[in-house]
Amino acid sequence: MGASLFCFGAAQAPLYEPPDEKLPRSVAPQPIPFDHSLHMRNRMACADCHPGAADRERAGLPGRDDCMLCHQTISVESEAVRGLAAMPAGEAIEWVRVYQVPGFAFFSHRDHVPNGVGCEQCHGPVGERSVLSQEVSVNMVSCMNCHAERDVSNECYLCHDLGQ
Ligand code: HEC
Ligand code: HEC
Ligand code: HEC
Ligand code: HEC
Ligand code: HEC
Repeated sequence: MGASLFCFGAAQAPLYEPPDEKLPRSVAPQPIPFDHSLHMRNRMACADCHPGAADRERAGLPGRDDCMLCHQTISVESEAVRGLAAMPAGEAIEWVRVYQVPGFAFFSHRDHVPNGVGCEQCHGPVGERSVLSQEVSVNMVSCMNCHAERDVSNECYLCHDLGQ
């Protein structure tokens, strides 16, 4: 990048200082309690509920009908499952987001997962968690640090629309 504004070489601190972040960062309670470790113990795959994570931009989050595939018959007496069953068919669930980048930065799972970057590198050991919090930073410095380590370009235009 030559005489760039930003230099992320090992010896030099980045000029851009990300906001102070204390991790893990917890989020508000979910509208329906959801336990990843319990579901992963029941031999589910991440893609069962996040079908886009392997090869699309967005991983996607499950809606009421995805859950009811099993909960029509499993744990029907549980209060949380009765809440699910009472929702109208086809309804999306307003999950509280854990990882999100602002709209002016481009991120796509398709650039990463097919190239061998695993979920846990950016999201931590989700499959062992009962409740999720943000355990890994997804700010610009963390994007760039991994790119630098792996010889991936850090040209601004890859992640931002620079206009003309
Ligand atoms: C592939 C089947 C499957 C899918 C899909 C599924 N679950 Fe489950 N769920 C299970 C199993 C199995 C259990 C554990 C039941 C047990 O051990 O008693 C469970 C347990 C639960 C429980 C605990 C119930 C209790 O005992 O209090 C909740 C809440 C729950 N799931 C919510 C969800 C939600 C929300 C979704 C959709 C995002 C979902 N599940 C999707 C199979 C599934
Ligand atoms: C049975 C469905 C189900 C399975 C299987 C599942 N998830 Fe999830 N996932 C959810 C639901 C529901 C949420 C939203 C509630 C929450 O954050 O706990 C979620 C949230 C997430 C989030 C946070 C999304 C955000 O930014 O708000 C990540 C990251 C994630 N899952 C990764 C994984 C990974 C990695 C696996 C496999 C190890 C996995 N999930 C397996 C249902 C599932
Ligand atoms: C290189 C880092 C990286 C990897 C690898 C990665 N994610 Fe993500 N993930 C992100 C970022 C960044 C976001 C926020 C995206 C946004 O706000 O547009 C995100 C968002 C999500 C979400 C929220 C819904 C969505 O699509 O925005 C889920 C669910 C999720 N990831 C699951 C997974 C799963 C499952 C895997 C592994 C198959 C995975 N991620 C691999 C960085 C990553
Ligand atoms: C853990 C490592 C890692 C992290 C963290 C990471 N990336 Fe990447 N990224 C990669 C790898 C590896 C590739 C490309 C691989 C290839 O094309 O072979 C890539 C490719 C990309 C590309 C495509 C580049 C091109 O030349 O087309 C974009 C855009 C991108 N990443 C954006 C982001 C953003 C935005 C973030 C932070 C939210 C991020 N990445 C975080 C490892 C990472
Ligand atoms: C690999 C992806 C990636 C590259 C390359 C990248 N950025 Fe970013 N940038 C991000 C992400 C993700 C955010 C949002 C998260 C944050 O604020 O750290 C961001 C945020 C920003 C912000 C807003 C900062 C703030 O205070 O909110 C500016 C300005 C910016 N980038 C400029 C640049 C410039 C200039 C370059 C080239 C030298 C560049 N970015 C290269 C991913 C990238």
